[in-house]
Amino acid sequence: MENNKKVVTLAYGCQMSERDAETLTEITRRLGYLPSDDLETADLVIVNTCCVRESAENKILGKIGELKKLKERNSNVKIAITGCMVQQPDALERLQKRAPHVDMWSGTHNLHDFSALLQRVEQGEKVAEVWQEPKTILEVTPLAEKGKLQANVNIMYGCNNFCSYCIVPHVRGRERSRKPEEILQEIETLVNNGCREVTLLGQNVNSYGKEFSPAYDFADLLQQVDQIAFLIRVRFITSHPKDLSDKLIETVANGEKLCEHFHLPIQSGSNFILECMNRKYTREYYLSRVQKIRELIPNASLTTDIIVGFPGESEKDFEQTLAMMNQAHYSQAFTFMYSKRSGTLAAKMEDQIPLDVKKRRLQKLMSVQNQESLEWRQNMIGKLVEVLVEGPSKTNPQRLSGRTRGNELVVFNGNLETIGSLVNVRINEAGSWTLIGKVE
Ligand code: 5AD
Ligand code: SF4
Repeated sequence: MENNKKVVTLAYGCQMSERDAETLTEITRRLGYLPSDDLETADLVIVNTCCVRESAENKILGKIGELKKLKERNSNVKIAITGCMVQQPDALERLQKRAPHVDMWSGTHNLHDFSALLQRVEQGEKVAEVWQEPKTILEVTPLAEKGKLQANVNIMYGCNNFCSYCIVPHVRGRERSRKPEEILQEIETLVNNGCREVTLLGQNVNSYGKEFSPAYDFADLLQQVDQIAFLIRVRFITSHPKDLSDKLIETVANGEKLCEHFHLPIQSGSNFILECMNRKYTREYYLSRVQKIRELIPNASLTTDIIVGFPGESEKDFEQTLAMMNQAHYSQAFTFMYSKRSGTLAAKMEDQIPLDVKKRRLQKLMSVQNQESLEWRQNMIGKLVEVLVEGPSKTNPQRLSGRTRGNELVVFNGNLETIGSLVNVRINEAGSWTLIGKVE
């Protein structure tokens, strides 16, 4: 169609948010919108938001402000703000006041209703709809763009854990697992469209299927996904340490396509802080899980999330977090300053940590982890690793890049024809963020 409308979808935050943004793009595509990157010529701009930390919210508020100027230049453009930030209790009214130029507000639970809302917006109406509870398990399964090598697949929605700092259970609702048949069907469709790697997404994939009868858990699902023909790799995030079963570790150890990578957020190395965070494990338990992984899968790579400056965190608590880095040997850690989220338990805790202390701790933690990550990469020098070739390297388009099974980024000289397939690369250098190697 020549006179298609154009949609620009911007996603902030985690892979769930990215996945939701893809769903929205697909819903609009079915209504005749072509996906585009160019704001200036867009007919519709969708911003799928995140509210996990204040810094994310500030960035998004800045973008919404920029869109006001866009609307001044082009009064025909429609602006839709969706997702977690809008879903926060009491957020909608505040946001509406702040950004009257926005045409549509919608939360996380009515994502699949987007087309009905959009049609009203197209008639010139301003709409705002946030449901307090999810009414269905979303079964919007967009067909993958042809030729897309990797895809994220939701296996469940929501979270029951209520870690005391976290807004996610407040904006994503309780855990709901999708049926295995639906997930397997979605992955098969993706694979038929050229996808070779899937990442199974859930706030806590380890509690997948808890409500199912007869019993069927995440390890069972992984075993079935592992059987899908032409799929090359299967990844999954996130694993809550308290629910990481031996069965799951064994399944990954025995799997063919199941990548030996565990994202196992520790959040803190102090038992006192872990308890205040309501994480439901101790550092000792966590380390016993790490040991089990290392025992069954010696080459597994482990990544984590850590928060510094949680209310009440003393220097001693922080030192225990630092010590953890040298015990768990993460290949990578995502580190954050605690951010107060209104509506969560931790927001009301006394002894909030001053910003300068949080900053200092974050710097220290990052420098310790950078050293650890570098050592991890240096240990790979000389090894032959299996790389799924993704395409030209972003930093050096003369070279190709791809990832190991452990999710480490590798840059190498290679043949464009290998994109989308596996090559063996001998690692000969550890760069500051990547591995550098040669195809064998
Ligand atoms: N402040 C800082 N970091 C947070 N995270 C979640 N909530 C907060 C918060 N209030 C981090 C956790 C989680 C990751 C996705 O974001 O480390 O694992
Ligand atoms: Fe947030 Fe904890 Fe749930 Fe993860 S497990 S989404 S950190 S409440």
